[in-house]
Amino acid sequence: MATLVLVAGARPNFMKIAPILRALASRTTPIEATLVHTGQHYDASMSDVFFQQLGIRKPDIHLNVGSGSHAQQTAKIMMAFEEELLRLEDVRGVIVVGDVNSTMGCTLVAAKMHIPVAHVEAGLRSRDRRMPEEINRVVTDAVADLLLVSEPDGIKNLAAEGVPEDKVCYVGNVMIDTLVHQLDSARQLDMASKLGLTANELALVTLHRPSNVDHRERLSGLVDLLIRVAARIPIVFPVHPRTNNKLREFDLRDRLDGAPGVHLLDPLGYQENLSLMAAAKLVISDSGGIQEETTFLQVPCVTLRPNTERPVTVTEGTNTVVGEDLDKAWQTVDAVLSGRNRPGQAIDGWDGRAAERIVDILAERWLAS
Ligand code: UD1
Repeated sequence: MATLVLVAGARPNFMKIAPILRALASRTTPIEATLVHTGQHYDASMSDVFFQQLGIRKPDIHLNVGSGSHAQQTAKIMMAFEEELLRLEDVRGVIVVGDVNSTMGCTLVAAKMHIPVAHVEAGLRSRDRRMPEEINRVVTDAVADLLLVSEPDGIKNLAAEGVPEDKVCYVGNVMIDTLVHQLDSARQLDMASKLGLTANELALVTLHRPSNVDHRERLSGLVDLLIRVAARIPIVFPVHPRTNNKLREFDLRDRLDGAPGVHLLDPLGYQENLSLMAAAKLVISDSGGIQEETTFLQVPCVTLRPNTERPVTVTEGTNTVVGEDLDKAWQTVDAVLSGRNRPGQAIDGWDGRAAERIVDILAERWLAS
C-alpha cells in the first residue's frame, strides 16, 4: 500500500508532526503514513511526554541514533534511515519538518533515492552559518522537492535563491496548529498556581543554543542577567539537558538556583510549557519556535540571539531580538516590565489549519494518479 514517510527526531519536531498526522488520518480516504523517530532526542522529558500529550501514535520505526557530534549524529541518522527506506514499499514521498539534524539527514537520503521530499517550515533564513540549524535549512531546501512555507519572508528568501515558484507553497504554521489545539487544556493546567505564582506576574526563560550555553563567559553573563530579572519578577526556567550539563560544568547552577525569585525546573511537557508561556508577562529565550508561539499569544518575547530566521515575529509580532549585548537585553526586559511594549498583529496562515492545507497539497501532487 502506498505510504508517506513522516520524520521526527528532536523536541521541536514533535509539535509540528502532530497536526500533520491528524490531517492525514482525517481525510475522507485516510492517507497511510509511516512515522519514523530518529531518536535524536531520547530522554522521556524531551520526547515521550510530547507523544503522550499531543496524542502522537507510537512511531512505526525508531532509529535510536542518540547524541553525538554533528557529523556522527547526522551520519547515523542517514545510515539508519536509508536502510529503512530500502525496506519500505511504495513510498510516495518523505515529509520532514523544521531544521534539526534529523531534518537534513533524512532529506539527503531520500533525495538520493529519488524519493520526493516535502519540507515543512521551508525558507527560513538567519543568514548566520554559525548556527547549525542554518546549514540544515539551506541544505534541506536545496534538495527538497516541495517547499512548504510558514511565514512571508520564506517566500522571498527562496525566490532570492532561485527556487522555481512551482516548488514553493505558502501554507502557514503547523506549530500554531498544535498551539491552537492545546491551548484550552494548557490554560486549565494552571502551572503558575502549581508553582505558587500568579499569572501575568512571572517570566518564562528557555536557553539552549550552543552560542549561549557552551562558553563559560557567555553563560555566566546570562546567569547574572537572569538573577537581575528575578529580582524584579519571578522567573521560571525549565533547563534543557545541554544547558544543565554546561551550568554544572561551569559551576553556575548553584549560583542561579540559590538566587531569590528563580525557579529552576527539569524540561517541561508541551502543555506545562504552554500553560506557563500563556501566563507569562514576558518570555526570555533563544528558541526558534517560542518566538512564533509568543507572537501568536501576544506575549512579549526577548530573544537572546544576534539574529532571527523568523523576522515576522519582530516586524508584526511581539518579539525583540536583542543581539549579544546583555545591557540591551536588560533594557528590553525593563521596558516590558514597565509596560512599554508594543502589541503584535495576527500573521497570515497562523490559524490552526496549516496541516490541512499541507495534506491537500500532498494528496494532489503525490497521491493523485
Ligand atoms: C537540537 C536542535 C535544535 C533544537 C533543539 C531543541 C540540531 C542541530 N539542533 O539541539 O535546533 O532547537 O534540539 O531541543 O538538530 N541531550 C540529552 N537528552 C536528549 C537529547 C539531548 O541529554 O534527549 C543532551 C546530550 O548531552 C546532547 C545535548 O543534549 O549531546 C545536545 O543534544 P542535540 O540533539 O545534539 O542538540 P540540541 O542542543 O538538543
